[in-house]
Amino acid sequence: MRSLITYYSYSGNTEKTANILAGILRQKGDVTIQRLKPKEEIASFLGQCGAAFTGKRSDLQDGIEYDASPYDLILIGCPVWAFAPTPAVNTYLDGISGLNGKKAVIFVTYGSGAGVKRCVERIKTVLKDNGAYDIGELAVQQLKTDDSVFVSSLFKKALSP
Ligand SMILES: Cc1cc2nc3c(=O)[nH]c(=O)nc-3n(C[C@H](O)[C@H](O)[C@H](O)COP(=O)(O)O)c2cc1C
Repeated sequence: MRSLITYYSYSGNTEKTANILAGILRQKGDVTIQRLKPKEEIASFLGQCGAAFTGKRSDLQDGIEYDASPYDLILIGCPVWAFAPTPAVNTYLDGISGLNGKKAVIFVTYGSGAGVKRCVERIKTVLKDNGAYDIGELAVQQLKTDDSVFVSSLFKKALSP
C-alpha cells in the first residue's frame, strides 16, 4: 500500500500526529510525508485567524506532490484556525489531482474544539468534489497530538467504513 501524507503545522502539534500516522502506515507499505511550508508565514494570531476565516491561500514553497494518483491512501493534516483550514492547506486543496476513487483521511488538531466540524467539512467537500470515494476523519486535541496509542485508536476508527 502506498500512502501520501500532506500536512501543515505552524507550532508542531499537527506534525506530531502526522509522524505517528506515518509510523503506523509504514508497517503496511510505502509512505510519502510532506509538510506544506508557506513562502511567508503569517506570524500574528489575529492575522492567522483572519486569513483562515476568509479562506485565504498562501504561496507554498516548491517540491510538493499534488498528484494523488500513484497512492492508495491520501491523508490531509491541518490545524483548525478560526473554525477553518489554514491558508496552506487551502492552496494544496486547490492543486490536488488524481483523487478519483481514492480513499482519504482528514486529520485535524485543535485547541478548544470550536469549529472542528466546520473545518473538517470544508476539507471533506473539496476531496469529495475531486472524486475521493471514502473519506475518514480524526480530530486530535492539541495535548494528545503525540499520544500514539490515542492517535492510533482514532485512526483505526477513521479507516473503518
Ligand atoms: C490562529 C489560530 C487559530 C486557532 N483557532 C482555533 C479554533 O478555531 N478552534 C480550535 O479548537 N482551536 C484553534 N486553534 C488551536 C490550534 O488548532 C491547535 O493549537 C493546533 O493543534 C495547532 O497545530 P500546529 O501546532 O500543528 O500548528 C487556533 C490556533 C491558532 C494559532
